[in-house]
Amino acid sequence: MRLLIMGPQGVGKGTQAALLSKHYNIPAISTGDIFRFNIKNKTPLGLEALEYINKGELVPDELTNKIVKDRLAQDDAKNGWILDGYPRNASQVEALDAMLADLGTPLDAVVALTADHDVLMDRMMKRAQLEGRSDDNPEAIAKRLDVYAKETAPLLDTYKSRGLLHEFNGVGEIDDIQATIIKGLGE
Ligand SMILES: Nc1ncnc2c1ncn2[C@@H]1O[C@H](COP(=O)(O)OP(=O)(O)OP(=O)(O)O)[C@@H](O)[C@H]1O
Ligand SMILES: [Mg+2]
Repeated sequence: MRLLIMGPQGVGKGTQAALLSKHYNIPAISTGDIFRFNIKNKTPLGLEALEYINKGELVPDELTNKIVKDRLAQDDAKNGWILDGYPRNASQVEALDAMLADLGTPLDAVVALTADHDVLMDRMMKRAQLEGRSDDNPEAIAKRLDVYAKETAPLLDTYKSRGLLHEFNGVGEIDDIQATIIKGLGE
């Protein structure tokens, strides 16, 4: 199973990706988590990414695409994966298309989660208090939502036109949402 999980900040992508990862026994790959790991370990990649992330901007495509390409080439990704946080703009969609064509492994589905703006804001404020992410300050949050609306949300139409889009309500009990997604994907 090769899946993308998409939706605005705070909609629950990471939470649902982790559960889908268990269910299908495939790795959940989050570009945000990979960047945070590198920041924590002060790698050159982390240091470069940090300046963009703290402002709520996208890390340059060249850097991000390479990370995903390397990750998808690893052994545990042979039988499938779920990508969380990528692609985020049209040029990343093109890059992913090229990677998948090279690997000879097409995408099976795109899971899109939805929630109202108020719910998202509320969740992000709570997460900011719990996790203390350096980009969970009001300016960076506003910037991320803006980038999402302008660059990422339009990609849902791209995948819809390819017949891959499955939309689900991201509001409700975590386990209920998970069950609905699995049912919707057909297993
Ligand atoms: N595909 C990507 N392209 C460019 N930058 C990315 C990408 N994925 C993550 N990043 C960088 O990492 C930051 C954190 O991403 P991450 O997906 O963890 O958080 P998010 O946008 O708040 O969504 P979520 O609420 O699901 O955690 C982004 O704001 C961006 O700077
Ligand atoms: Mg996340």
